[in-house]
Amino acid sequence: MNVQTKPNDLAAFWMPFSANRQFKKAPRLFVGAERMHYITDDGRRVLDGTSGLWCVNAGHCRPKIVEAIQKQAATLDFAGTFQMGHTRAFECATRLTSIAPEGFDHVFFTNSGSESVETALKMALAYHRVKGNASKVRLIGRERGYHGVNFGGTAVGGIANNRKMFGSHVAGVDHLRHTHDLARNAYSRGVPEHGAELADDLERLVALHDASTIAAVIVEPVACSTGVLIPPKGYLQRLQAICAKHDILLIADEVITAFGRLGTAFGSDYFGISPDIITTAKGVTNGTIPMGAVFVKSKIHDAFMTGPEWVIDFFHGYTYSGHPMACAASIGTLDTYQDEGLLTRASELATYWEERVHALRGLPHIIDIRNIGLVGAIEFDPVPGEPTKRAYDRFVKAFEHNLLVRQTGDIIALSPPLIISKSEIDELFDTLTMVLKTTN
Ligand SMILES: Cc1ncc(COP(=O)(O)O)c(C=O)c1O
Repeated sequence: MNVQTKPNDLAAFWMPFSANRQFKKAPRLFVGAERMHYITDDGRRVLDGTSGLWCVNAGHCRPKIVEAIQKQAATLDFAGTFQMGHTRAFECATRLTSIAPEGFDHVFFTNSGSESVETALKMALAYHRVKGNASKVRLIGRERGYHGVNFGGTAVGGIANNRKMFGSHVAGVDHLRHTHDLARNAYSRGVPEHGAELADDLERLVALHDASTIAAVIVEPVACSTGVLIPPKGYLQRLQAICAKHDILLIADEVITAFGRLGTAFGSDYFGISPDIITTAKGVTNGTIPMGAVFVKSKIHDAFMTGPEWVIDFFHGYTYSGHPMACAASIGTLDTYQDEGLLTRASELATYWEERVHALRGLPHIIDIRNIGLVGAIEFDPVPGEPTKRAYDRFVKAFEHNLLVRQTGDIIALSPPLIISKSEIDELFDTLTMVLKTTN
């Protein structure tokens, strides 16, 4: 019998990426949200300094998105996209390609960032195979990269805690060095000066494995989940040039940097790079309905369109690829971004934001401050023997003072909805300053 006997029992839900026992002793629960705020179960309004989990770029419960989802639920709840179609998926793909960087004319739908990554990696392997380069099977990630939690993404990812439990089940993966260099770049404003030469690490891996075995390199334009690691000036261009030289596909994992986070529609626009595949999710529906979208250049797409026309061209897809509700949510989201100029709003606020985030310098235990677009990060020296505690304690205290920030390692990351006002930026940093001054 499925009867809920204890309505507030927290035991059944095994929470993802959480310290379950600790959380359930002192839960932090939301019951509502509106624009820049969450509402807690005890009625407090909490300023959202993290756009949920880097996804609610237009703020919460926005009318056009809500209405689009409601209408779609009542009109066409589900239709598959394997050998059938529905109009919303085609409309959504066309709308998405219209804001994508030059040359990205095709979209493959998934349900999350992790699935977008798996899709891109498989696409890269299959691309080389259909082009007759079947030996190109190696995938290269980067230390401290985060590419979701499925096997491919875990393998190319470079965060030890996300990898060590699960073994290595994708053969031939290797990693570039990360670009985080506090000795040379601490307290950089925006893109740091030093380290473009770290891209040459790819030449080292080419020399080791031979380019004929390497299919793709995947990197985040800004590695956000690992603590906002901003690539040094020129690094991404150099990486792109080395990839092109060796016929290695460059996959930009833009699950966070797409949809306006840096002040341009995509992170690739911000850095002036032109990868081969771009993975997205999160902001594609403003976080409302799970969805991912992999953007592909015609060079990749067309390579698959060469066999007999009645044969499936890419043996991959999800039951919910291009789900009608997700497509409707995405179209409502793109309308909202467009109506309110949100894809470029971070560039208007960036200077104000930078001033406020760097004004935290000098507060106790801070060892670095970073910013780009509407993203900020504060790194702390770890409590000896208790890594991550310093930032965790600050995250909890901020929440108690009605501010949501994101803790990752000993770093606090900030990424508010792109609708934030200057006075709300002030409120965010006034609260954070008080928290950082008064927490051990
Ligand atoms: C760059 C990047 N790739 C992939 C993912 C995984 O996305 P999801 O949690 O939707 O599977 C994330 C999530 O934060 C991400 O930041």
